[in-house]
Amino acid sequence: MSKNKNILKHLAIIMDGNGRWAKERGHVRTKGHEKGAEVTREITHYCAEHPTIETVTFYAFSTENWKRPKYEVNFLMKLLDSWLKNELETYHKFGAKFETVGNIEGFSPKLQETIAYIKKETAHHTNVTQILALNYGSREEIAKAASRLAQRNEPITEESLGNELNTPYNDIDMMIRTSGEVRLSNFLLWQLSYSELFFTETLWPDFTIEELEEIIDQYVNRDRRFGGI
Ligand code: FPP
Repeated sequence: MSKNKNILKHLAIIMDGNGRWAKERGHVRTKGHEKGAEVTREITHYCAEHPTIETVTFYAFSTENWKRPKYEVNFLMKLLDSWLKNELETYHKFGAKFETVGNIEGFSPKLQETIAYIKKETAHHTNVTQILALNYGSREEIAKAASRLAQRNEPITEESLGNELNTPYNDIDMMIRTSGEVRLSNFLLWQLSYSELFFTETLWPDFTIEELEEIIDQYVNRDRRFGGI
């Protein structure tokens, strides 16, 4: 076991289990998303105050999520819009900068406007950067980056491709997926190459800061060798 403790700078989270959380309580699935969004806020607050975390990336809407029933997709779009508007005050309070990764051009002009506005208003904050992966798919991100390099006749190397990806924050130290599902679901495949992965049975709306702290404790003591011995 390495004597050096790992430093956590970039945390990524697949927030899963909102629908099951709601169903268990006899609620409609959308209730789970509402509660889930509150947890997203609490975890962002924690990250803003954490001494080493600089970036937290949440998977909020995947390119595959369009396959959900129309009412749920519409609900998620509306929730995102109203949540971001309400959240501006919170971003200021936490000193959090808001960023996105994914094809936001696929969203309505109104939602795109809200996203651009919140990014602009929070661009100066430095306590933490919160990235929401929105209409995001990792294979598409990698393929488009490679295609841009090819079009410009530039060599495709690990470095050039890594720099060409839409997220400028390439390396993720630790990834958590909630709800007991053990897969990556096309989330940041390149950026997660050397991440420490954690899977918990807890459904996202039940996820707490206490559990996050327990997972961080494990991360800090894990032996990260990056392919070495
Ligand atoms: C997975 O739960 C979650 C999502 C598809 C989206 C995550 C969305 C939120 C946390 C709410 C919106 C977020 C913000 C920041 C506004 P699921 O629906 O797949 O749950 P299930 O697997 O139990 O059905």
